[in-house]
Amino acid sequence: MSDPAEERIPAGKDRGPDREVPGPRTGASERSRPPVRALLDRIREDAPVTRRDYLRILVTISGGLLAGTIAISAGVFRRRGAAQAPPLRVAASLPVGSSVRFAYPTAEDPAIAIRLDDGTLVGYSSVCTHLSCAVLWNRTQGRIDCPCHNGEFDPRDGVPIAGPPPRPLPRVLLEERADGIYAVGTSV
Ligand code: FES
Repeated sequence: MSDPAEERIPAGKDRGPDREVPGPRTGASERSRPPVRALLDRIREDAPVTRRDYLRILVTISGGLLAGTIAISAGVFRRRGAAQAPPLRVAASLPVGSSVRFAYPTAEDPAIAIRLDDGTLVGYSSVCTHLSCAVLWNRTQGRIDCPCHNGEFDPRDGVPIAGPPPRPLPRVLLEERADGIYAVGTSV
């Protein structure tokens, strides 16, 4: 007499977790393994990324990161022209309290030179350190302003004194020569 449970499962339908998984590999060794174990082995074998692949990927990523770190340390990605820009004549002269705009060390680096009331000559990148708006010399208030979010910088050293700018304005080094004012370098 047949088992009643057997009779409730029509032929060809799922018969439970211990059913043999159908597939193209039906060698003798596979047939001898328990069904669940065989299924796990199959999943492991068919996995698109093996342990060796993972290792290879990890080694490649680590190597890339290491190479990038070495390159950055060596200054490979330093901005073009930032180090060896030739001196640039900014103006013939600069009266007290006035400013002049120029670009240095490249044409994409806007900068500003200011003659402070005490006669000191200062130069800065005119790109705000918050969100890169152009800063302006505010002679009336004696400070450098960023109109975008009311950022303010001390004109004597470029340090932010109000608003959201997080860092000082990078300096542009200026030199007064017989024939005018020159930008000769940059520093942070
Ligand atoms: S961009 Fe200058 S304060 Fe925001």
